[in-house]
Amino acid sequence: EKGRLLFAGPVTFVKGVVAMSGLPPADRIEVCFAGRSNVGKSSLINALTGRKTLARASNTPGRTQEINYFALGDGRAQPEKYLVDLPGYGYAEAPVAIVAKWQALLKQYLSGRQTLRRAFVLVDTRHGVKSVDDEIMQLLDRSAVAFQVVLTKADKVSMAERLATIEQVKGALAKHPAAYPELVVTSSEKGDGIETLRAIVAGLE
Ligand code: GTP
Ligand code: MG
Repeated sequence: EKGRLLFAGPVTFVKGVVAMSGLPPADRIEVCFAGRSNVGKSSLINALTGRKTLARASNTPGRTQEINYFALGDGRAQPEKYLVDLPGYGYAEAPVAIVAKWQALLKQYLSGRQTLRRAFVLVDTRHGVKSVDDEIMQLLDRSAVAFQVVLTKADKVSMAERLATIEQVKGALAKHPAAYPELVVTSSEKGDGIETLRAIVAGLE
């Protein structure tokens, strides 16, 4: 119920950030969506907010190249929370120098943003946790940023595959002190898990 209320309010694009100096003032809490390129970060933000084209999604890995801030309001002058769409890590269809720049920014952001209350680390249900995911999780451990894994694109796999991935991910999370043990299984396409994730975001203070 709380989740539905929060996400029923206005959602606005604030800015795209290309350097740490461009981050908005750290005056409210934020949650971010991290994960390999093409895992479904931008699509998940659209599904959560119920706005199809708020965050730009595409089939080309490397679509999001800036840290995009969205403000989640409840009608008050000061929006309550920021939702942060991140560029992906791992393979991307973009020039190497540009990719290197946004990867460095991504790491600075994930280790140095005081108001970051939780990082959602998205993992494709077809693929499970890969070594690049593990590296990012280690960075979050070192920075003491609490993170929670969200499985994406669950509509693309059978129930048996879904369960196998859940087991693989739980095994991988056991060695990460900053990880929440509970996963959220989602499909931005079909809506699975979206209400659950809204409630989690709404409950963070
Ligand atoms: P980058 O910005 O490039 O890092 O990608 P991203 O993680 O933001 O992924 P994006 O949301 O752009 O989605 C990548 C592709 O996956 C798009 O073609 C989406 O339509 C598709 N996609 C995302 N979520 C789902 C899902 O739940 N189910 C299915 N079937 N496709 C999805
Ligand atoms: Mg994106």
